[in-house]
This record gives sequence, C-alpha cells and structure tokens, in this order.
Amino acid sequence: MKDFIYGVATSSYQIEGAAFEDGRGISIWDTFSRTPGKVANGDTGDVACDHYHRYKEDLDLMKWLGVSAYRFSVAWPRVIPNGIGKINQFGIDFYDRLIDGVLERGIEPWLTIYHWDLPQALQDRGGWANREITEWFSEYTGLLANRFGDRVKRWMTLNEPLCSAWIGHLYGEMAPGIRNLKTALDASHHLLLSHGRAVDVIRSSIKEVKVGIVINVTPAVPVGESAEDKRAADLADGFDNRWFLNPVFGKSYPEDVLQALGESPAIEAGDMKEIAKDLDFLGVNFYFRQTVKYDATGKPLPIKNVRRENVKRTFMDWEVHAPAFAEYLTRIHRLYAPKEMYVTENGSAWDDRLVNGKIEDDERISYFKEHLAAIESAREAGAPINGYFAWSLLDNFEWTYGYEKRFGLVYVDYKTQERIPKKSAHHYRQLLLDRAT
Ligand code: FCB
Repeated sequence: MKDFIYGVATSSYQIEGAAFEDGRGISIWDTFSRTPGKVANGDTGDVACDHYHRYKEDLDLMKWLGVSAYRFSVAWPRVIPNGIGKINQFGIDFYDRLIDGVLERGIEPWLTIYHWDLPQALQDRGGWANREITEWFSEYTGLLANRFGDRVKRWMTLNEPLCSAWIGHLYGEMAPGIRNLKTALDASHHLLLSHGRAVDVIRSSIKEVKVGIVINVTPAVPVGESAEDKRAADLADGFDNRWFLNPVFGKSYPEDVLQALGESPAIEAGDMKEIAKDLDFLGVNFYFRQTVKYDATGKPLPIKNVRRENVKRTFMDWEVHAPAFAEYLTRIHRLYAPKEMYVTENGSAWDDRLVNGKIEDDERISYFKEHLAAIESAREAGAPINGYFAWSLLDNFEWTYGYEKRFGLVYVDYKTQERIPKKSAHHYRQLLLDRAT
C-alpha cells in the first residue's frame, strides 16, 4: 500500500518489567496479577520482557524490521508514582532515552497515554469511577506533553476504553476486577471525558501535533435469521462498539443500549460536547468478530455469545474472519467519517514452538496477509486508513492469559530473555523491503 505507515505496537505493563525499580509506583495490574486466580499460572508483569533494561536491543529489532513507526505506552505510575503530585524523574528519564532511541533509528514514536496501568493510589480513590479522574488524567497528560511533546508528534489518549470499562468494571476479568454495572457505566463515561479533556491539553502544549484515541471494534453477527437474534447483534454492536465511537464523534450513547440496560452513566451538562473533540485520527484495534444470539436471561443485556463450529480460530480461541474487519472499517468511515484512520493493533496468538532455533508461524503470516488485504479493500472503498501497527513486536504479558499466549513477531525466551525473530518477523521485514524498492 502506498503512502502507508507500517509499524509495531506494544504497551508498558506488558513488556517493561522493572516493576519495583527506580521509584515506579504500584499499578492496578501489579495488584490484580497478585490476586490469586486472576491471571493464568499466577504470572505477573514484574519482569515481563525486561524491556526497561533491554530497550536498545528491542529498538534495534524494530530497525532491523524496517518499521517506520513504533506505538508504545507510558506507565503512569512510573512517571507519577501516586498518580498525581510528585514526579519520578527516573521514569521521565527512561522515556526520554526510549524516545531518543526510537528517533535515532529513524522511527516515528506514537505515544499512548493510557494502556491500562492505572496507579493503584488512584484506584484507592475510586479510579475511573470517580469523576475527579478527569483532572488527574489532565495533570498526567500535561506532564507527558511538556516533557515529550518536543519530540513526539503522534498521541493517543486511551487504549481500548471498552476493556477498562466493561472488562475491568463489569465482567471483573481485568484490573481492577470490579463487577458492577453502574460503576462500569460511570467508568466508561469518565474515560471518555478524560479523553476529551486530554485532547485540549495536548493541543495547547504541542506544536504540529496529531491526536487521536484507540478504540477496539468487535463486529457482531447474529447466529440465525430471527428478528430477535438480529436485535441481539445490534445490541452487542451498540454496547461494544458504538458506545465508545458515538460520543467521540459527537453522537449520544446508543439509545437502544441505554433502553435495554435500564441504566445510564452520570452525565453532567456539557460532558458530551467535551468528549466530542475534533480528532486528527481514529486508531482502530481489531482481532475477531463475535456471533451472538438472543437470550432473555442475559445480563446486563439479552445476549449470549455463541461459539461457531468449523471456523478457523487462533490460540486465543478467537475466530479468524478478515472480511468482518473490512466491512467494519468501511462502516466506521460511513457512520463517523474520521479524518484519518490507523489500525493501531492487529495480530494473533498461535501455539508457537521453538524447533531447532526457529519458529515457523505460518498461521500468523496468513493472519497478517488476510487482514492487510481487508484494509486494502476498505481503503479502496474510501476509508482513509493510513497505517498499520502489528500487535506485537514481542511476545509479552498477555493480561489474564499471562505468558501462555504469544502475539509477538519476535519470540521471547522468558528464561534467558533471548529474542528470536519468528518466520512472521522475516515475512513482515520482507514486505517492508519490497515496498521500499
Ligand atoms: C488488545 C490489547 C493489547 C493486547 C491485545 C492482544 O485488546 O490492547 O494490549 O493484549 O489485545
């Protein structure tokens, strides 16, 4: 694809490690991963890929791959250990070194402000459920903008607010592990409001900046043809996708979902306007589609997820279905008309085996090919998609799945911290080389 950025993405808690070094504060993922039964095998991000110490080697890998952009996130508790107030200079220094290293290698840094590692001290005050977080997040954003805005010109406020709100506060399967609908609705609203306010902070402090948000989309299809199943699919789409896309693009929370839930977040006058800030781009993350059926007993919505048989699935048990991606990208363009779109994450986990020093991950290569083709077709249909970030550079701490699920282009031997590029890394590199010629 011409005039198209190819990059890789990571996130702080998943790769950095050094969880208790150089003054880093505790995050909700340190707490959650230590709560028995929450993460597979009791894994934590204490060491992860030890990227905090090995970042140079990782940046060299990116350079070898030939990517032109690197999407990473800042660990809030590393730069402000208690979330607000005192700054940790060691943390700032680390990101200074990282950003300089990225630039020295001719790569463009794309910074995500929040990829789920909230300072525990703020969680103790209610976290995303407390409206004051919009001020805490502005303070944190202001610090990053002031310190890094001279060199970083591409900013993303939040990564996947759905996961923070619904998975963290409704299903309780991610940090902070709460299960309460009203808390989840409020958290979703405060996440979006924090995003809107942060956009202003970024624009007022950085010259020639481009700012956006990253939303994950999970298209929903009905299992059958019945009107009830179709309604279930609409509701799933409303709750998982439109709930976050609508407000960001100036629309209200989806009416159908609000009615079916029978509850609403606490919204104050002017909030919806503050959320709907003019954005330079929308970041879209895509992994799989969902199949749903109507189920009157479903909570909080009358929906049940159905496991389709005889379809291709990744090691996460997620269905592989690239056409749904193409269709959803086109739909976003039609419904919301973002100025620019970037696929900020896409990738897959497989049962990678190291055999004779090699990982032959042909399934991952097919997955990339099919999804890049989907992007190309959405572009041809007019969606302004200008880049792609493969998830992920490295195998890493896959949240509740711990280290069992590997998404990397590069294999990590967690015992030795050795990095071994998989066949898919060679494939991605070749794709970029072919493009350059
Ligand atoms: C996304 C997350 C990312 C990674 C991938 C597999 O939801 O943003 O951190 O875990 O899934």
